[in-house]
Amino acid sequence: MAREDIVVGLDIGTSKIAAIIGNTWQGDPEKIEIIGVGITPSEGLRKGVVVDIDLTTAAIRQAVEAAELMAGVEIGSVYAGIAGGHITGQTSHGLVAVSGEGHEIKQSDVERAINAAQAISIPVEREVLHIIPQGFVVDNQDGIKDPVGMSGIRLEAYVHIITGAVASAQNLLKSIYNAGISVEDIVLEPIASARAVLPKDEKWMGVVLVDMGGGTTDTVVYKDGALHHTAVLSLGGDHVTNDIAHYCKITPQEAERLKRHRGCALVDLVDQNDTIPISTVGGVRKPRYITRQDLAEIIQCRMEEFLSLIGQEIYKSQLLVPAGVVLTGGTALLDGLLELAEQTFPCPVRIGYPRPLKGLTEKVNSPIFSTGVGLVLYGAMERYSEPKRTFIKGTNVFEQILKRMKDWFQDYI
Ligand SMILES: Nc1ncnc2c1ncn2[C@@H]1O[C@H](COP(=O)(O)OP(=O)(O)OP(=O)(O)O)[C@@H](O)[C@H]1O
Ligand SMILES: [Mg+2]
Repeated sequence: MAREDIVVGLDIGTSKIAAIIGNTWQGDPEKIEIIGVGITPSEGLRKGVVVDIDLTTAAIRQAVEAAELMAGVEIGSVYAGIAGGHITGQTSHGLVAVSGEGHEIKQSDVERAINAAQAISIPVEREVLHIIPQGFVVDNQDGIKDPVGMSGIRLEAYVHIITGAVASAQNLLKSIYNAGISVEDIVLEPIASARAVLPKDEKWMGVVLVDMGGGTTDTVVYKDGALHHTAVLSLGGDHVTNDIAHYCKITPQEAERLKRHRGCALVDLVDQNDTIPISTVGGVRKPRYITRQDLAEIIQCRMEEFLSLIGQEIYKSQLLVPAGVVLTGGTALLDGLLELAEQTFPCPVRIGYPRPLKGLTEKVNSPIFSTGVGLVLYGAMERYSEPKRTFIKGTNVFEQILKRMKDWFQDYI
């Protein structure tokens, strides 16, 4: 297999770091094959943001080595995910006059319109991460995806601009770079997850993807095939675990075990006579018991808060989403969450698994791997797209990456 066929997705999450190696077979999306998966617990992040570079670097190295061993290849570069409460998205609009012969719209006019839409003021401590065109309007005719070749006098571009804190992006890049790995691109995690989980038709109809991890809950809304709304909330499954530890007076490890194996997000679904023994801190006192209903009440209370905040984001987007809400990320595995979400949202809800690929697909067949698999799909598409982006390597990697992210890109669906 040729080295340029290898694309690696590196999901640096609050709970785990996952390195997923894909063989892209010259970019044919039907042939992408998962050939290596490495996963390690993550300890250097809080709420999706790197707070300890050394711990993060060590975990990245471990995950990458495990994936390399499985695949029998050496990794040189990765596509990495970024998230955290510092991320914000906004839609902007740019207008230009088309002055060429016959008023035929050229690629350069499209670029001018997109550049005009980028003229928004961004504070110095923030950086543009993605610029994603949503659609174009030619002489008041809207809903145009590719205006090149059309005739018109006024060309308007609508773009979704995602920004994040420079320091957070730099710490993420530093952690990867210190592990001896180059970065080909940083991708907003829910955009990557959407690539793995959402089929094209859902993106056209209108759909909400919610990636509920350990430290962040990322919400993106797609409509007419384009990204229209982004929100990253600093809330995740770790809050549920902490609630259980607090109310039951047990260690976070015990609370995590209880949540995963006996937890339920909907009180009505559990038997009121079902009791669970819980070990006390230090294990010296008499064993205690809680009912499964009490445990479910703690979880439901927190999950109702999450779902209500997600509902607010959907409302803010002002979009109709007939394809409903797709829940992914590790917290989507919580028993009873689907039923609670169905009671909360007035639209269909499903749990999103990464779409099956070839190779070791069963190893990544969990909502936990949606971001990692999506990064491989994103990387494969970008690697073989035109115009080719330059490979980033060298010492001033931060500047190069951040500069390149200012380029707009088509969020291929
Ligand atoms: N079977 C399960 N039931 C309930 N919760 C689960 C289950 N498996 C994992 N989780 C929860 O999922 C969360 C981890 O999910 P995930 O791996 O998607 O997070 P992450 O990507 O590391 O974090 P983030 O994206 O927030 O930075 C943890 O809070 C964990 O408790
Ligand atoms: Mg995640």
